[in-house]
Amino acid sequence: MQLLCWVLLTLLGAIGFNLYDSFWTADATAKLVTDRTLLASARVIAEAVRVDEGGNVQVDVPPAALEMFDTGFGDRVSYQVITAWGSLVSGVPDLPLPAIHRAGEDRAFHGADVRVMILDHPVVGLPDNGAISVAVAVTHNSQYAMRRQLWLSDFSKQFVLLFVASLVTILGLQRGLAPALRLRDAVRQRGRNRLDPLPPEMVQSELQPLVHALNDYMERVQSQMAAQRRFVSNAAHQLRTPLALISTQASVAAREDDAARRDEALFALRASTKQISRLASQLLTLSRDEPGSRRPRSDAADLCKAAREILEAHAEEALRRNIDVGLEADGPVIVEGDGTMLREMLVNLIDNAIRYTSPNGRVTVAVGQADGNAVVTVEDNGPGIPRGEREQVFERFYRVMGTEAEGSGLGLAIVREVVEGAGGSVVLDGAKGGGLIVTVRLPLA
Ligand SMILES: Nc1ncnc2c1ncn2[C@@H]1O[C@H](COP(=O)(O)OP(=O)(O)OP(=O)(O)O)[C@@H](O)[C@H]1O
Ligand SMILES: [Mg+2]
Repeated sequence: MQLLCWVLLTLLGAIGFNLYDSFWTADATAKLVTDRTLLASARVIAEAVRVDEGGNVQVDVPPAALEMFDTGFGDRVSYQVITAWGSLVSGVPDLPLPAIHRAGEDRAFHGADVRVMILDHPVVGLPDNGAISVAVAVTHNSQYAMRRQLWLSDFSKQFVLLFVASLVTILGLQRGLAPALRLRDAVRQRGRNRLDPLPPEMVQSELQPLVHALNDYMERVQSQMAAQRRFVSNAAHQLRTPLALISTQASVAAREDDAARRDEALFALRASTKQISRLASQLLTLSRDEPGSRRPRSDAADLCKAAREILEAHAEEALRRNIDVGLEADGPVIVEGDGTMLREMLVNLIDNAIRYTSPNGRVTVAVGQADGNAVVTVEDNGPGIPRGEREQVFERFYRVMGTEAEGSGLGLAIVREVVEGAGGSVVLDGAKGGGLIVTVRLPLA
């Protein structure tokens, strides 16, 4: 509708200008015709001027000279014939005379507007080859009528043009927009979960790229939704196992009369609870890292301090399994990013190293700087990860077959998402004496 309004407005503007222009063209034409008639009339009168034997100038105005103005519009004609020395031969004495000869001019005469023209004409028999002047004036009725007629015919032509143009525009727009409207309705009427592609041939070829773009977008949304569904069902599955365990352990503890066995059950219950709360916090970390979640806080984090604190927190576990844990660091290594998330990333790496290394093993964490990057390596002498699986272990819920230690397969997924979110990279490699070495690079603050 807006487009139609604009098109019509432009057309109206063009036609308005055209009408203004054609009015003045019609006016000029009507003037020209009147002037020609005035000149012809003056010439006929001048030709009728005679000088008699007595030297008197006389004129017998032929009726045709005045009748040529009789076009049925009731115009009044006046004329004047005077000699070069100014004596009136015939006609009205007070006719207003134009300044330029042979050119029509608009003047007022006896309360009416007239067009007047003067013509000099030599007359045989006058002393010194003298001339006489003939002036003819006519009222404007016929001239205006002609102007009106010329203009009106133009007006009607323009009107027809406008009508046809609007009709064609409306029809064209309707035909052109109909497929776009169909596309709009098709998109609107879709159910919330319908994401199958729209047929591109439902619109004309110019709009087909739009449909392709829409289809691509829906495909991306669809795969995103499928990934979300998979994630939720995996998460629910992972939560169910420890929850069932907790429930059993609780019933066992409640039934047990023997204090020592009850303590044992309660101890196991506490371990299961820890496991489930770790899983919950991992899920939370992942959801915070999802696109569209709140923007991560951007502050400065000291990786060295974080690593030390995390190793201290894991000291008890390492001691229990007699794992030799070491930290190599020179001083603070500050990176920019969400401190909580970066810490979570280190927790997962150190947790893996201690968890998957067999008793009496060794875990070394090194924090340093190289080429303007912060570099963290976590090395262990455990079983390592086969080369073919080093990419897959970053997927959510992926675990290497045969891994005995508990876990849900989210740790490395968190590591990768946090590191990439902070603009860094993470690489898995085989350590020298067997085992795994994880290298994380992050831009320094
Ligand atoms: N340091 C390591 N040495 C040997 N294998 C490892 C090591 N780190 C990870 N893996 C293998 O990669 C898999 C994925 O690790 P990830 O940290 O993502 O999950 P998880 O440790 O199984 O569970 P979660 O960390 O979520 O509790 C592990 O199941 C394990 O098989
Ligand atoms: Mg892990």
